[in-house]
Amino acid sequence: ANTGSTLSQPIGFSSVPASTRALNVSLGGSATAVLDKVVVPTGYTAQLLVAWGDPIMPGGTAFAGDASESASQQERQYGAHTDGMHFFPFAGAGGLPSSERGILCANNEYTHEDILYSNGMSAGYNIAKTRKSQAAHGVSVLEIRRSNGKWQVVKNSPFGRRITANTLCKVSGPAAGHALLKSRKFSITPAGSVDTGTLNDGYTAYGTINNCAHGVTPWGTYLSCEENWNGYFGSRSGSLPAVGASEDGKNFNRYGVSVTGFGYRWHETDPRFDVSSNPLEPNLQGWVVEIDPMNPSAAPIKRTALGRFKHESAQYVVDAQNNIAFYMGDDERSEYIYKFVCEGKYNPTNRAANRNLLDSGVLYVARFDANLSGQWIALLPGTVGVDGKALRDNPNFMGANDAEVLAKILIKTRMAADAVGATMMDRPEWTGARPRIKGFQEIEVYCTLTNNSNRGRSGGVKVNNPDGSTAGGTARPLTDAANPRANNVYGHIIRWRESGRTVTATSFAWDLFVQAGDSATTTLTPKSQYEGNIVDSPNGSADYGAPDGLWFDPFGRMWVQTDQQGDGGGNWVNIGANSMVCADPATGETRRFLTGPNHCEVTGVTMSPDGKTMFVGVQHPGEDATYTNPTEYSNWPQGQWSVASDGVTPLPAGRPRSGVVVITKDDGGLIGT
Ligand code: FEO
Ligand code: CA
Ligand code: CA
Ligand code: CA
Repeated sequence: ANTGSTLSQPIGFSSVPASTRALNVSLGGSATAVLDKVVVPTGYTAQLLVAWGDPIMPGGTAFAGDASESASQQERQYGAHTDGMHFFPFAGAGGLPSSERGILCANNEYTHEDILYSNGMSAGYNIAKTRKSQAAHGVSVLEIRRSNGKWQVVKNSPFGRRITANTLCKVSGPAAGHALLKSRKFSITPAGSVDTGTLNDGYTAYGTINNCAHGVTPWGTYLSCEENWNGYFGSRSGSLPAVGASEDGKNFNRYGVSVTGFGYRWHETDPRFDVSSNPLEPNLQGWVVEIDPMNPSAAPIKRTALGRFKHESAQYVVDAQNNIAFYMGDDERSEYIYKFVCEGKYNPTNRAANRNLLDSGVLYVARFDANLSGQWIALLPGTVGVDGKALRDNPNFMGANDAEVLAKILIKTRMAADAVGATMMDRPEWTGARPRIKGFQEIEVYCTLTNNSNRGRSGGVKVNNPDGSTAGGTARPLTDAANPRANNVYGHIIRWRESGRTVTATSFAWDLFVQAGDSATTTLTPKSQYEGNIVDSPNGSADYGAPDGLWFDPFGRMWVQTDQQGDGGGNWVNIGANSMVCADPATGETRRFLTGPNHCEVTGVTMSPDGKTMFVGVQHPGEDATYTNPTEYSNWPQGQWSVASDGVTPLPAGRPRSGVVVITKDDGGLIGT
């Protein structure tokens, strides 16, 4: 049982109020919006650090304001829709990590196509628009420093870098070189992608897309996780191979590759994304990508040993024996939680010795049993599935030898997890590990389960057909102990403790840390399904829903960020805008630290080593805005910061812009105390 706080610093601030429509009205604002600004507790200040379109590397141009930038300009500017991030400090005084200068790596998950271009998405759609969209995706690497008390981007830093949907990457690990990764090889230029008539070598990929959350390694590299990559592909022929008729058909079906994708139009102008002529390209997405922030010329490396799915984040834990594992969620309704245990041990004294630790080890998937115990099931050729057959004898993974079987398991990880009977979860988002401090020695890992509208309704139950199809077969239960709500509007957070305090354990004990909810709601019934059990602090309610970002600071405090509709309507009347709360993992006590602007998601959080600066991401403010009325739903950040206070020019023809805020305590103290 978790009795007694293990925090090394207290949670000392007073909750900010929920940013509801009612609060907005009381302050003179619209009755159909929440506050269009970032709110932090009394005694704290939030300032804009960087936003979409700001220059971050040599040659970068200032944000034009009307989104008239070309693709090549966007390639030197901060990308769109910021998500997971991490601050990598430079060495400071005495060789200690600096809290004033370092590299910020941040994911740029996706784009809002209608505001990405000065004339909207549909007018004259062409390859130039595709290239700009591709350039706004990926990862931004930027040098930041604090001078005269103010954090700023070092705009001409040699460390500044954009990794986009077209950046040359390496592919490594057990699946590298497999025939399923040999897509068509294109010559990629601003004017288009030209088929060279040859195939890629299976060790090469171009670009990374839909980089949602992230991870880091203890050897100082950044991990960017490819989430909803399937939505960027389409079929110009208008059809896809039938499910069950071919390996591609099963694979497309199980990962959601479709004829039109999410409405991006890349495949219309860039044949690399047309699966009717380049069907293996999707196999080069869906990986965890390792990036060295200190080496701008090093190619990002897609680490196939960690499996291919819709990766959300990758949280590492090193145990007392220096075994190292990475905990990962696959964010889609009724998908799974995984861990990858490296074969080699972490070497804390020799960075180079860890360079390829992510290339060999065992990938496991979690089964959460009703008795609050669980099993890690190895996804290996000899593992016997629920059909009584070893994976090597399953038609999806058969190969010339076990090395090929393993490659196929890693490329079609979801199907392998189906075959072994893993537990389908309510959209696994971020994972986080509780620090082992103040006498706490357990390996305790948390995962946000953001919501699930499919449980409890007919047709919403997935089955485990070996061909990846979803009809007939063996249906899974509507709800289970680990996912107990039939209509999980507000989400929950699960946690588990590894047996024997080692990351190599194959069993664990689990419980639910919290069921999020709206304790004041009167509109949803039954109330017991929706009120949740968030432990409020003495100074008021901290209700939240749709937990997504989850991160432990070095002082043992858990920070949770949310991703719901963000406009205070519908089921969110009392919860209001998206928020970031801080919780004590032992007592559950929760306080609301930050509320975000209208129609934004709050995602991405990191701190300087001294704990006195926090960086928080604001994604997609004004998510429903259009280019004809870009400020209709949000004018953030232009409306919030004036020239006088922050040097940000208000832009009359502006766009709502995703970005990163930097938060400090006015007395110079530790964040959160
Ligand atoms: Fe991109 Fe699962 O959030
Ligand atoms: Ca997320
Ligand atoms: Ca989310
Ligand atoms: Ca969102």
